[in-house]
Amino acid sequence: MGVFADEWGNGWTAASASAVEGYARAVTAYLGMRLEIGDHLKAVLKADPDMPMAHVLKGYFGRFFATTPMEKMAAQAAKRARALIEEGDSSEQERAHLRALETWLDGEMEAAIAIWEAILIDHPRDVMAIKLVQYNQFYLGEGRAMRDSLARVQHAWDEATPGYGFILGSYAFAYEESGLYEQADRLGRRAVEINPADIWAAHAVAHVCEMTSRPAEGERFLSGLEPHWDGVHNFRHHAQWHRGLFLLELGRYDAVLDHYDAKVWTEDAVDYLDISNGAGLLWRLAEQGVDVGDRWRVLADLSAARTDEHLLAFADAHFMQALLADGRDHEAAALRRSMAEAADGPGSQARVTREVGLALADAMMALSRGAPADAVAVLWPKRGELRHLGGSWAQRDFFDRLLVRAALDAGAHAEARAALSERLQAQPKSRWNWLRQADLLESEGHDADALDAKRRAVELLDAA
Ligand SMILES: [Fe+2]
Repeated sequence: MGVFADEWGNGWTAASASAVEGYARAVTAYLGMRLEIGDHLKAVLKADPDMPMAHVLKGYFGRFFATTPMEKMAAQAAKRARALIEEGDSSEQERAHLRALETWLDGEMEAAIAIWEAILIDHPRDVMAIKLVQYNQFYLGEGRAMRDSLARVQHAWDEATPGYGFILGSYAFAYEESGLYEQADRLGRRAVEINPADIWAAHAVAHVCEMTSRPAEGERFLSGLEPHWDGVHNFRHHAQWHRGLFLLELGRYDAVLDHYDAKVWTEDAVDYLDISNGAGLLWRLAEQGVDVGDRWRVLADLSAARTDEHLLAFADAHFMQALLADGRDHEAAALRRSMAEAADGPGSQARVTREVGLALADAMMALSRGAPADAVAVLWPKRGELRHLGGSWAQRDFFDRLLVRAALDAGAHAEARAALSERLQAQPKSRWNWLRQADLLESEGHDADALDAKRRAVELLDAA
């Protein structure tokens, strides 16, 4: 074994330089969200079955799936990496990665982040450490921390660094999640210029369009880039989900359903992100009075098989909604019980479930059984904490809309007024916000003002 540098200057223990080149290929495929990530990793392990970092990478990739079987596979990979590292002459960087993987597998996301951040102080071009901080901060709802982390490594990156565009795209998304939309837009568009197939960067720009209520522009932007997404893994469904949100905001309900069937929920849609795409879009459609047919069924089937996982509180929330919407009340109750048990355990997601996940589940269950006042009572005090469920602002907007809908249905005017006031301050060009504002004003008997709010919603469509 020797030490060979990857294209970012990180030295990894391996049998040959070509094994480390393979490692870099797998990492680059991961950055590009390519289907061939696994093939590249297999090639590395075939070329060098004893490369410690290849096993750590296998563990990382397995953990990203957030499923019980892949979690077990990741734990096996970590075990193998530990044996290799203990018997070999590994670097502190490799040892730190192993500790971070083990800590992450223990569910301690903040502690794992601290290890990756420590790696980045000495190795600011350690791409996996950069991305793992992003992923984990994302699922803790920490947009500002995502941005700060990327800011700290910028000194080591420029346009000549391999994969620079991918880091720029990540930075764009981190800017977006921390509410700085102009910077996000600029960086994201530059990354797409560098590589039109960089779907993460395109996705960052889509988020900017979503948060600044520019649905027509967002729809055009994504549809123009779609031809570049051949070979992208199921993240492309999520990019298409954003297109679905744009079509929805444009009031093109039939187009949303067609788009859902053709691009958002396709046969290879299986994982938690797919389910969250499906549940988030179907709920929004149904909330606006659109008949979504039996589309919940497949989401509920997949969710029913995952009621005991609890790897991400964000995923549990979407599993719950899918079960409830398909009328699977027993399985929804089983998920609720299992969440409560998990909430008593250790780890970051147990804490999130305890502090906000259970309240959200209860609100969904209350709304589903026709008790919107109960939904408001349980979720209103937690509204400011929904961020901790992780996911993006655009994804969590589902939960906030759910609360507004519950408040309107319950006749909880004060809460509806306050929530809509906040929403209209943040997104004054959101058609949905104005439609719900019209509902509120109408239910309070302010017919002229309600008509004015409806007119504003129509004007937004005309202007789009
Ligand atoms: Fe997104």
